[in-house]
Amino acid sequence: MPGSSERFLEKAPTVPADMTFLDLEDSVAPLEKEGARQKVVRAIRELDWDDRVLCVRINAWDTRWTYGDVIEVVAGAGERLDEVMLPKVQTAAEVVALDLLLAQVEQNAGLPEGHIGIEAQIETTRGLINVEEICAASPRLETIIFGPADFAASMEMPVLTGGVQIPEYPGDHFHYVFSKILMAGRANGLQVIDGPFLKIREIDAFREFCQRTRVLGYDGKWALHPDQVTVLNEIFSPTQEQFDKAWAILDAYKEATESDRKGAVMFGDEMIDEASRKMALKFVSRGERAGLKRSAS
Ligand code: GLV
Ligand code: MG
Repeated sequence: MPGSSERFLEKAPTVPADMTFLDLEDSVAPLEKEGARQKVVRAIRELDWDDRVLCVRINAWDTRWTYGDVIEVVAGAGERLDEVMLPKVQTAAEVVALDLLLAQVEQNAGLPEGHIGIEAQIETTRGLINVEEICAASPRLETIIFGPADFAASMEMPVLTGGVQIPEYPGDHFHYVFSKILMAGRANGLQVIDGPFLKIREIDAFREFCQRTRVLGYDGKWALHPDQVTVLNEIFSPTQEQFDKAWAILDAYKEATESDRKGAVMFGDEMIDEASRKMALKFVSRGERAGLKRSAS
């Protein structure tokens, strides 16, 4: 949600998203940047944000606003704020610099040390080259995010819309990028999130496009409109059938290993082992987060 728009800020808590970020970066015009900080602080303090993860996207280190954004927003609304998002991260040092600044602001604001987490956006070629070091740069890091619009600009791709298919390309033009970010994130225990799809009226194309990162293993994707939120909640949650099967695998595996002392057994017409347990756990935790309950058998 653009931090300069009171109308959008008021609407944000009514959108059923797991996480909301209030933006001070690219959706805010340069002349509104400083004024938006207090609007964001007021929105965080005064609106009811339920239990969602609440984040503010600050401006990148190559601007003159980064430290002012952090100081004003964290000092003014740090108590309810869960994270700040750092865009256009190019090196691990940028994450370290933010970590150090946050430590001082937290101390001065009387907040517990480490209270504010960091989300980092990978959206430049240099950021992608350094993504492994970036993902390991700070214990505050919670999430790594791909930014397709800025990334297309950084690559100098001949496109005018970010984050959508390119029909002339025989395959997925971002497959390598998606995989590289996912591996770096997972290797460091981070959540991995896909960025925006800018054609907000094309819901069917959005639904189709979301599958690319969902099947690779991403945890979720940005929404720019409430209609996109509805699709994402459906696509990134397991189906009831998957949820029930995951539970059945866990039960069968427990029985096999603990009662029968076997590491690999047949489950229907497939073989399951420890790796199956790990795969099933992910479906169970996601399903529970989405409010699913195991069907009566
Ligand atoms: C998001 O910030 C993007 O550039 O895609
Ligand atoms: Mg961007």
